[in-house]
Amino acid sequence: MGTEPDDAEPEGAQTDVVERNTRPARWFHAGVYATVLVLLATGWWLGLGREGSPSVLARVTGTSDAELHTLTGWALAGLTALAAVVGMRGWRTFWQESVRFRHGDAAWFRRWPAAVLTGRFGRHEGRFDPGQRIANLVLLVTLLALVVSGIGLVLVSGGPAFVWFLLVHRWSTYVVTPVVVGHVIIASGILPGYRGVWRAMHLGGHLRRADAERVWPTWTERTRTKEEPCPEYEGPSHEERSSSRERD
Ligand code: HEM
Ligand code: HEM
Repeated sequence: MGTEPDDAEPEGAQTDVVERNTRPARWFHAGVYATVLVLLATGWWLGLGREGSPSVLARVTGTSDAELHTLTGWALAGLTALAAVVGMRGWRTFWQESVRFRHGDAAWFRRWPAAVLTGRFGRHEGRFDPGQRIANLVLLVTLLALVVSGIGLVLVSGGPAFVWFLLVHRWSTYVVTPVVVGHVIIASGILPGYRGVWRAMHLGGHLRRADAERVWPTWTERTRTKEEPCPEYEGPSHEERSSSRERD
């Protein structure tokens, strides 16, 4: 994760960082990925018909893969319910920022394959880049489908409903797996264009401003504006000041 030599903090730049994600968001994300990684491993193990021979995870925890899978599944379901209750505002922002597609997004996608190596991404105006927005929606829908159908599998022991839940559960697994793998590759910062972004969710959520500017330019500019209050009087930002000038 971001271990290349030039990923080291340049001297004197330690303070030029931005907080990208709040502490509750970071902890929720950590809970989701701890459970989802276990669910993916045990789910694939079960799906490939290996239930008879316990996986490493089952041996380490001293249970069967099916039991470990179901228990972790309940943990993810509980976490999702808790986040839905206490984090409603965060969910709203996440949703609004993910469904908003704009005119320049197609150009961003055209430049993306080269930009993952060069870091020269096309401009986009969102909090999330267009690729993240699609990934967010796919992850949200498939993880919800997995939780609902998984609970269905626990509660129903046969009949057409069971067959239906199993179908939804399997197909959601096929869709979610490559998206999670892609997300982890991108967010871990092993691709040069995304170097340093792993910090957005770890170790205090502080990432270097230069990394943030490269991947989320408009969001980073907005952050700077908020951080630099107008010197003449307390409170209003430059943005507010210029819009009031326009009104004048
Ligand atoms: C990332 C989320 C999840 C993934 C990727 C996943 C994946 C899978 C897969 C691939 C199977 C095997 C299906 C087959 O036999 O073909 C499975 C089985 C199952 N899953 Fe999940 N699952 C997830 C979440 C959940 C949740 C949230 C629950 C419930 C709370 C759950 C409950 C179950 C149950 C009860 C089975 C049947 C286990 C058995 O064979 O006894 N899963 N899951
Ligand atoms: C395994 C299940 C995981 C799921 C379901 C998941 C899901 C998400 C989602 C929905 C976001 C919001 C924005 C985005 O799409 O980037 C996010 C952000 C992020 N994730 Fe994950 N994640 C997982 C694992 C990981 C892992 C293992 C890492 C380790 C590098 C990671 C690093 C990050 C980072 C750095 C961000 C911040 C991006 C931003 O600030 O826009 N994620 N994750």
